[in-house]
Amino acid sequence: MDKFFLTTPIYYVNARPHIGHVYTNIAADVLARYYRAKGREVLFSTGTDENSQKNVEAAEKAGKDVQGYVDEMAEEWKRIFTDLGFSFDTFIRTTAPEHVQAVQAFIERIDKAGDMYVGDYEGLYCVGCETFLKEDELVDGKCPIHKTVPQKITEKNYFFALSKYRQKLLDHFKDNPEFLQPSSARNKMLHYIEHEMEDVSISRQSQKWGIRLPQNDDHAVYVWFDALINYLTVTGFPDKKFEKFWPADLHLIGKDIIKFHCAIWPAMLLSAGLPLPKRVFAHGFFTVDGQKISKSLGNAIDPMTLAKEYPFDVIRYYVLRDIPFGNDGDFSHERLKERYNADLANGLGNLVSRTLNMIQQFGGDTFDADGAQLPAEVDATLSSVSAYIESLAFDKALESIWQAIAWADGLIEETKPWQLAKAGDTARVTGILQELYATLVAVNMHLAPFLPQTHEKLSAILSARPILKPPTPLFLRK
Ligand code: MSP
Repeated sequence: MDKFFLTTPIYYVNARPHIGHVYTNIAADVLARYYRAKGREVLFSTGTDENSQKNVEAAEKAGKDVQGYVDEMAEEWKRIFTDLGFSFDTFIRTTAPEHVQAVQAFIERIDKAGDMYVGDYEGLYCVGCETFLKEDELVDGKCPIHKTVPQKITEKNYFFALSKYRQKLLDHFKDNPEFLQPSSARNKMLHYIEHEMEDVSISRQSQKWGIRLPQNDDHAVYVWFDALINYLTVTGFPDKKFEKFWPADLHLIGKDIIKFHCAIWPAMLLSAGLPLPKRVFAHGFFTVDGQKISKSLGNAIDPMTLAKEYPFDVIRYYVLRDIPFGNDGDFSHERLKERYNADLANGLGNLVSRTLNMIQQFGGDTFDADGAQLPAEVDATLSSVSAYIESLAFDKALESIWQAIAWADGLIEETKPWQLAKAGDTARVTGILQELYATLVAVNMHLAPFLPQTHEKLSAILSARPILKPPTPLFLRK
């Protein structure tokens, strides 16, 4: 069976998930469900990034020991992802022994390749970003993202010879135009690789928390270096079995972490003599009601709270339909409500109840669910959905499905089956009902990866014989 390995970033556990984190998982979940339905053997991985100084600081603030804190938080993230219905196959934690083993085996490979050396490092480190910043990146002496003064660090570090891979990376980008998407991100990345990329320090001297560097256990492995290797750990690396799923078919990430995934990570893999991921797709950033998500504004939407207000399918639908994947977007409560009412409750929900009511009222003995043929117009519209999903144009895929719904609504409005029934035109009424029914079945099939709960409910309704009237509107607020 053909495999499909897709990943989300692994999340820092210094806070609970907000809507921006959940966004990546929604997209990954759609793809995982889609490829499973296509018969691919899917490995969908997500998890937590635990060896970060941010987590240490958060533990201190919470008055807890670090291991206890990350254990608790990782459990919490996993529970939330499970409660939200994400169909991940593996949840990796970077403090797990198998990950430590994978990281150490990986580092030994790059060392053997002659790509590690010891050097002096002096730089400005931002714990928020978990990265060194250059003077000219600062605004008023502060990190432009975290608005904090970076720490000045002077230490002996182990370095990875990243710049050695400059040409190979540029060649890879040239030979694989699909490697990084959307293509708007490419030029910036190429500029970085060609003009700015320098060797990176991959260890932290005397840092207690973190994976030990195999060459010197006074050093912790730099958290990003360890985190990227999670994608190999979940395939079973360094055991040979990792070759079943590696290379990844798709890394889904946010646009802030492209550099790590499209320069450092591929160079690490080149050094270790391993194949590169086939595709990296970077989505945009969310604001909430027009404002940047931030702790101080307290506007980080808790997905669990939101999921109490709306069925989670509604939230999945809204974020994928309203914001083209790859663009920045605004999470607006107002728009969510509008989409919910217009597209789900009134659009899909109404079509289902109207159609099934009419089948009950006018279907009689002549209606034959099994003989229902999909109208050509609907077939044509829905045939584009797969290609849209595979190119991660989720908004377009949903738009096509809703065109099919609109077509069916139009058919009802135009033909007014209740009038035909009154006039005794049974054959015509049956034909229309069968077209509507076949449209609902096809719409429901295409909705499966996007709205899994709705799909299940609708499948039960549509497959019952005699066909059931929906007991309640499909989209009830919980
Ligand atoms: N731990 C690293 C990733 C390591 S992957 C080997 C990390 N973690 S994070 O928790 O800070 O962010 C995880 C993901 O959430 C990133 O892809 C980031 O882009 C995404 N988002 C964080 N805030 C976001 C928004 N406001 N909007 C959309 N995505 C956001 O980075």
